[in-house]
Amino acid sequence: MTIVIFGGGGDLTHRKLLPALYNLHVDGLLPPNVAIVGVGRKAMTDEAYRDFAKDGVTKFSRRPIDEAAWQTFAASLFSATADIDGENALAPLGARLDIIEHERQLTAERIYYLALPSSLFVPTIKQLQQARFVTRGDGAASRVVVEKPIGTDLKSACAINDAIAEVFDEPQIYRIDHYLGKETVQNILVMRFANSIFEPLFNQKYVDHVQITVAEEEGVGTRAGYYEQAGALRDMVQNHMLQLLSLVAMEPPHSLGADVVRDEKLEILQSLRPLEGAAIDASVVRAQYDGYVKEDGVDPQSRTETFVALQVFVDNWRWYGVPFFLRTGKHLPKRASEISIRLKEIPPILFNTDPAKRLEPNILAIRIQPDEGFSLGISCKRPGPHVEISPVKMDFHYGDMFGAGSSPEAYERLLLDVITGDPTLFMRRDAVEAAWRWVMPILDRWAAQTGPPAAYAPGSWGPAEADRLIESTGRQWRPL
Ligand code: BG6
Repeated sequence: MTIVIFGGGGDLTHRKLLPALYNLHVDGLLPPNVAIVGVGRKAMTDEAYRDFAKDGVTKFSRRPIDEAAWQTFAASLFSATADIDGENALAPLGARLDIIEHERQLTAERIYYLALPSSLFVPTIKQLQQARFVTRGDGAASRVVVEKPIGTDLKSACAINDAIAEVFDEPQIYRIDHYLGKETVQNILVMRFANSIFEPLFNQKYVDHVQITVAEEEGVGTRAGYYEQAGALRDMVQNHMLQLLSLVAMEPPHSLGADVVRDEKLEILQSLRPLEGAAIDASVVRAQYDGYVKEDGVDPQSRTETFVALQVFVDNWRWYGVPFFLRTGKHLPKRASEISIRLKEIPPILFNTDPAKRLEPNILAIRIQPDEGFSLGISCKRPGPHVEISPVKMDFHYGDMFGAGSSPEAYERLLLDVITGDPTLFMRRDAVEAAWRWVMPILDRWAAQTGPPAAYAPGSWGPAEADRLIESTGRQWRPL
């Protein structure tokens, strides 16, 4: 197999893809005969490319580099150049791939990984077609991997999907949302459907509300060029957060078949209550951290949001009337992602009778990262002669149970699935478009507004408006 990475000299390849491929190699999970070809605009010798890769692996691999393993891995790395502008732009790359594949006796089974900005997806796909690099069909020898964001709105996402569909069949297309590769995210289905204790409670009869938080400590960093055009809604909500919501809310699929699972997730995206008109202002808060406009590469007049909070409803039988509160932002107090499911209060009978001392309802909190695990908050009698009730926590930490650093990185799992041809954890076209369809009215409304977003201090949990959003319903954000 040959893995051809367009954007082979880029940041994603350096930080994520090469370290992930190295770890798969150490675990013996790469095919025995593989070539990894990093394609960039700039000419680089194989030696220089191996140095670049080694630097990435040394800095970003979850395991320290092992010299013997590195040597065998490095031997499968190659560099190639291509400029995707112009007629037959990939002809020289084709010649180079033929030589590599011939020398290594590879069968031209190829994965094309587009680690590129989404504006380059369509031209690159067209070049792949022109160069006759692709064989079509289910089980065919070529696959393509694209990264989120797929477009910047519904229209551009459909245009990208159409262009890819002209060259590849849907089963050959792997759209990455790297949150789906995280261990704790995969565990959501296991937790729900491999334990009889939780699933019967996951519905409007028992759940008061759900909170999904993806908080980042870092600001925009060096990514202003991309982020200015994106903002938190496009960058985090349209993909990662709606995927988390789908996994928490979906019905049990009848099998783990890729399309069976993806059909159930799609149902949730299609059941989201549409937000329109003034309801958008009441249900969605957008904000920007103080000082964002002074960051490198940011327009001093920028209205790009670095924080979003939303109240969302899933209008199906199971979840009718249960609010889902979502919030995500940059420059929050810490990096912490969590899904919490708050159960309803017990009635004010027996133990919940004092209105000044209401018992804390049960909360199931799934920690996506860091400190992966989950906890269940329950009420317990304090030892002693009186009935005094305290909240206590049953707490499970992956690190304690399976050892620190035992979880593979999301990209390891996702690359392995592309190699073995399992699309379950990838976004199907209809899901990408359903998610865009749902966020479009929000984007359109914001585009028509002239006022600035709300402001929040870096290192705070977002603007006061986000607190009011949830507090106006009689609830509060869970402290993280
Ligand atoms: C990416 C976003 O998809 O996810 C980034 O583009 C964000 O803005 C990142 O920082 C967060 O990923 P993780 O795995 O660090 O939570």
